[in-house]
Amino acid sequence: MVPAAGTGVRLGADIPKQYLTLAGLPMIEHTLRALLANDQIRAVVVAVDPADTLIDTLPSATDRRVIIVHGGQERSHSVLAALDTVAELGKSGDWVLVHDAARPCLPRSALDRLIAAARSSNTGSILVSPVDDTLKQVNAEGEVIATVDREAMRRAQTPQMFPLGVLRASIAEALAAHYSVTDEASAMEFAGHPVATVPGPRCNIKVTVAEDVALAEWYLTTTER
Ligand code: C5P
Repeated sequence: MVPAAGTGVRLGADIPKQYLTLAGLPMIEHTLRALLANDQIRAVVVAVDPADTLIDTLPSATDRRVIIVHGGQERSHSVLAALDTVAELGKSGDWVLVHDAARPCLPRSALDRLIAAARSSNTGSILVSPVDDTLKQVNAEGEVIATVDREAMRRAQTPQMFPLGVLRASIAEALAAHYSVTDEASAMEFAGHPVATVPGPRCNIKVTVAEDVALAEWYLTTTER
């Protein structure tokens, strides 16, 4: 499933960021094609803003495997809404991948690696990348308290892949406890489930601010899909 109900305010464009044109196609069209190219994916449920009028204009919107639903106020609400539809399509033990619309540069090989790792270990799994910068923990005044060991740190990417029933229950449990669910793995951790990591590629960036648009376009035109 693809959460795509955000407005992308940090990017400052006049349309939601997932519809910005990158290398000749809307960002989200690249994202959908990366998923639809994988024949292990039976359906792609996309959560959009109820006022979204652009989703139906995408070439992939006519694909029989694509289902559009309405998202919610926060990303986690959008994920939960889409998981309700995923649940109608399958069984609780089926696997589901959650992948941000704003990550259009996912290579086929990374998706294959993630799916293979989750299936073979039978453990929920996420793509991650290393941390390049030295990390500082600061207090409320912004003064450095400590240097965090970056070797033990990872940046969480998407897709993230979990058994459907466990993921739904974990997100519901975390939201009910007002826990901040910024990715699916955080809800799984909250509910006490293990999450394995799979090395993700550097190109799998989340387009967030204006300069990311140029970088994503560069990745889309120079790296192998
Ligand atoms: O805002 P951010 O870049 O963290 O959003 C990550 C993804 O979650 C984006 O694809 C965005 O469209 C989606 N989202 C959503 N529903 C929201 C907020 C964000 O589906 N209410």
